[in-house]
Amino acid sequence: MHEIGIEEIAFSTSEYFLDLEDLATINNVDPEKYLKGIGQNQFSCAPIDEDIITLGVRAAKQILTDENVKDIKFLLFATESSFDNSKSAGMYLHEFLNLPKNCRVIELKQACYSATSAIQIAKNYVQIHPNEKCLVIASDIAKYEPKTSGEPTQGAAASAMIISSNPKVLYFENFSGICTKNIFDFWKPEYLTYPIVDGKLSTFAYLGCLKSAWEEFSASSKISYNDFFRICYHTPFAKMAEKAHIILQRINTENREININDQLIFNKTIGNTYTSSLYLSLFSLLANDQADLSGKRVGLFSYGSGSTSEFFSCIISNEYQNAIKKTANNFKQKILNRKKISYEKYLFFNTFKLENNFKLNKYTNDSIRLKGIFNHKREYELLD
Ligand code: HMG
Repeated sequence: MHEIGIEEIAFSTSEYFLDLEDLATINNVDPEKYLKGIGQNQFSCAPIDEDIITLGVRAAKQILTDENVKDIKFLLFATESSFDNSKSAGMYLHEFLNLPKNCRVIELKQACYSATSAIQIAKNYVQIHPNEKCLVIASDIAKYEPKTSGEPTQGAAASAMIISSNPKVLYFENFSGICTKNIFDFWKPEYLTYPIVDGKLSTFAYLGCLKSAWEEFSASSKISYNDFFRICYHTPFAKMAEKAHIILQRINTENREININDQLIFNKTIGNTYTSSLYLSLFSLLANDQADLSGKRVGLFSYGSGSTSEFFSCIISNEYQNAIKKTANNFKQKILNRKKISYEKYLFFNTFKLENNFKLNKYTNDSIRLKGIFNHKREYELLD
């Protein structure tokens, strides 16, 4: 058996953000509700010429080289913001990332869970083909209808991870606890612009699934709560992860204090990134935790509405700091460089409906932007 895990990891986000204090003022809500009650400060706001492809290309380009691209034999693209019921959006990524012709491409969907499923498929693939690599890209733009309770929990980002038998960042252990139930907590019928959300049911379902997945994980692995150095959660908003952590601590009575502050730093400012959310929390931990995580066990809880969830675990590699240094610094700089936008501009981005044969104005300046849809085909402009 080979140790299989993340060889490289990088993130991208959009160039704009909305400040939640500004949104609270407009919505006539006490800002403390958003900042403390929900736990979020800002969210990344995608302009109209940004989409899951531009975000995904920007994330993946940071970790692909002339050398490693040749070994990528499987691209797994996880998203719930896709635009075609037939053709995988991964085909655009395959082209813009110059992936080999003999590379499989698929798009996966199960709400926020699908990146975890992509990783599990990639892990099994590499187990059988240890000299090949898989590229997992998760990309989403989380939009809720203005003036609804989900509005402060929006966001936009993409993650790119190379899964291989050279796990310089971390390797996955082979235990999982799963919980699947057909429920209607969050879904987006294809004829609607915004998702339908039962907020209270969704938080209740998330916590119930965590309990159930944890029970299966701990019983089958014999790994206890105290064996973890850190735990990362799917984070639609920071308070959700804090609630999840409290539940896990309560179930495990002989627990010690496990800090989760560092893994929420990126999520608090980027917002909900759907498929990438758990991995943004993991990246935040690796990039911001002052403790040396080498050799430490980290728990991972993935939840996707509808719903499927999974609790699993990984061990951080000794060389992780070197492996993430460049992409972590890059991402921190991108966050600092984002431009704050007005409520009116945000509303325009949120409500804009893209139509066929319409040329988009330029808002995105980094690497690649969407030019528009012409003859029902998306066209992109490479910027460098
Ligand atoms: P809401 O009804 O507006 O908020 O919606 P609330 O009234 O429940 O208040 C939220 C918290 O703020 C409460 O704290 C209040 O007490 C507190 P809690 O009781 O929860 O600890 N609060 C204040 N705190 C300080 N000062 C104040 C103040 N006022 C109130 N003045 C909700 C909240 C999360 C439901 C909403 O934002 C929502 O619907 N979000 C979208 C759904 C969501 O994120 N669900 C999470 C679980 S499902 C999931 O994660 C899957 C998902 O990512 C999608 C996918 O899988 O694809 C969403």
